[in-house]
Amino acid sequence: MALREKIDEIRKGFSLDIDKSKTSKDVEDLKVKYLGRKGSVSSLMGLLKECTDQEKPLCGKLINDLKNEITNFCEEKIIDFSQKEVEKRLEEEYIDVTMPGREAYLGKYHPISQMTKQIVGILEGMGFSVESGPDLESDFYNFEGLNFPQEHPARDMQDSFFVTGDLLLRTHTSNVQVRVMEKSTPPIRVIAPGRCFRNETISSRSHVFFHQVEAFYIDEHVSFADLLATMDEFWQKLFGKKIKTRYRPSFFPFVEPGLEGDIACSVCSGEGCRLCKNTGWLEVIGAGMIHPEVLKAGGIDPEKYSGYAWGLGVERLAMLLYDIKDIRLFTENDMRFLSQF
Ligand code: DAH
Repeated sequence: MALREKIDEIRKGFSLDIDKSKTSKDVEDLKVKYLGRKGSVSSLMGLLKECTDQEKPLCGKLINDLKNEITNFCEEKIIDFSQKEVEKRLEEEYIDVTMPGREAYLGKYHPISQMTKQIVGILEGMGFSVESGPDLESDFYNFEGLNFPQEHPARDMQDSFFVTGDLLLRTHTSNVQVRVMEKSTPPIRVIAPGRCFRNETISSRSHVFFHQVEAFYIDEHVSFADLLATMDEFWQKLFGKKIKTRYRPSFFPFVEPGLEGDIACSVCSGEGCRLCKNTGWLEVIGAGMIHPEVLKAGGIDPEKYSGYAWGLGVERLAMLLYDIKDIRLFTENDMRFLSQF
């Protein structure tokens, strides 16, 4: 009988299809394919009309059996798949609510930035305003304009990283001096914090990369006494107390007279240690009265105006204030070190 063959064919097809199904959605689709209004089982109803009256009850039963069979099979599969799908999702989205939370860290400024901000804050309070210059500087602003003539042996005091014949990484923040003079008229009261670079052997005391704060004041009748008084007031404000200092005559081509300032070593309290090279003192500042040639290079009349300038090392000061024994710690990014500040 054609109908029986058709039923067997549909049953076989369904059996293959259901074996291939992988998700509850696949089974839902099969339900539509076989049991839907235009599905294979419904199409059998058309064939039923061709049966004799005798055959009809039996054929109707066979179709119904197939329908029930497919329905039951699908329902079972759907339950089975759904359960597995829920389990899989639970596994994927598993959250262990008993796990300890991740600690949130509050960001903070690098100790060098903190130290710089402190220095700048004090000097702004004393009437200086902040200017900046480029890290990549021309020979003129870094050397020539500061009275370091070509071939002058004083250039050897600062081993430089030259990028081209005329461009170098600035060796000091003094490069800002002539730049500011060129665009201003006295009184000039400026500080310039920034990065500096020198081709030096890295050790606990020196690095190829460090920070300075330059300060200079140019006006009529600025004297050496002004320089000393200003530095003293600065130290007092920075340390919150009188601090032991020592000024020694020194040479820098851009000042005359020039001096270097030392502060008693905080690590060994003057006993002598690695940081202070066993001298008991830490050199933290270079200063002097701005050389007339430098004023001229900046377009300022040295007959009418005079000025003082100083440059201090930020790392050195931070080491002194926080008792840090090795300058390399500042650039190693070790959280155990940085988180202390
Ligand atoms: N630029 C000098 C250096 O890096 C420091 C210095 C010395 C700056 C004397 C000054 C100064 O302004 O007057 O070694």
